[in-house]
Amino acid sequence: MSRPVVFSGIQPTGAIHIGNYFGAIKQWVAGQDDAENIFCLVDMHALTVPQEPEALRGQILETATVLLAAGIDPAKSRLFVQSHVREHGELAWYLSCVASMGQMQRMTQFKEKSESQRGEVRVGLFTYPILMAADILLYRTTQVPVGDDQRQHIELTRDLAQRFNATYGEAFVLPEPAIPKAGARIMGLDDPTKKMSKSAPGSYHAVRVLDSPDVIKKTVMAAQTDSGRDVRADPARPGVTNLLAIYAAATGTTIEAAEAHFADARGYGDVKKELVDILVETLRPLRERYAELSAVPGTVHALLAQGARAVRPTARDTVDTVKRAMGAG
Ligand code: AMP
Ligand code: TRP
Repeated sequence: MSRPVVFSGIQPTGAIHIGNYFGAIKQWVAGQDDAENIFCLVDMHALTVPQEPEALRGQILETATVLLAAGIDPAKSRLFVQSHVREHGELAWYLSCVASMGQMQRMTQFKEKSESQRGEVRVGLFTYPILMAADILLYRTTQVPVGDDQRQHIELTRDLAQRFNATYGEAFVLPEPAIPKAGARIMGLDDPTKKMSKSAPGSYHAVRVLDSPDVIKKTVMAAQTDSGRDVRADPARPGVTNLLAIYAAATGTTIEAAEAHFADARGYGDVKKELVDILVETLRPLRERYAELSAVPGTVHALLAQGARAVRPTARDTVDTVKRAMGAG
């Protein structure tokens, strides 16, 4: 058996929050010794909604620095920027000639995201999952560690790979999603019925991984909960359920273990106070390393260039195989 290939991506579109961290990044870091690892800053995906060019450029560097600070180790993993490897766009075109409109119209994230766009909706937002399939399939990926919101996109990736293989001959490996048990779906602290997201407005929505202890405290203490006192996970009480989910993810336990831990709590205030301490301690090393790394941005740029150089040959090889199989060129 050859080593598993892990691939995942993150949009450089805003401050990374604990949903990104517990849903995805923590798994990326933990699995580094067991596989070939490729992590990608998906700037081309970011462009599917309007972006300020200067801000996007800055956020690519910031996101890369956060990933390194979180423990992505350049000796074990490749880290690169999507647009630096032109095969991503190239393969996306060939896959768009395999995907059907009906298949694409079933993508729920497009429906959600297009509804929240105030101006016009761009074609790239519709074809977003095809570019994501290209990201994954280029590297013969076997595992894709992501949060629960990406499950449908990985299903589509598998469907496209299968359809291609059946039509043109075996070119692609079918990837599996790797979704964590705790932390796969962290909800907004200001509104626990909505997924925590980088783009949501409001300063009490998310705990960002670079937040100071003071800000973490303010945000967690302000988290919306209902009027009950019983610390139990319950769909009718999304606020306390979310606090338990964050606690479980941060301490590496289950929701049931978190409930047992708080069995004697006097109310939600106790849960919040303990959660503040745990989040501050969990994120402290990340914040400290971020400060060190951002003092030398040249190092991060160089690592990204090195990452792109390392992955390019495999990407080229896959696209050449695909072109040949389809009869292009
Ligand atoms: P994005 O912020 O959309 O680029 O997502 C980067 C990674 O974080 C993906 O693997 C997502 O599935 C994951 N992720 C984003 N938001 C959350 C959330 N609220 N809870 C858990 N995982 C999340
Ligand atoms: N769509 C993913 C997100 O918003 C980011 C992404 C792009 C990705 N390409 C990927 C994740 C490939 C995993 C694999 O979170």
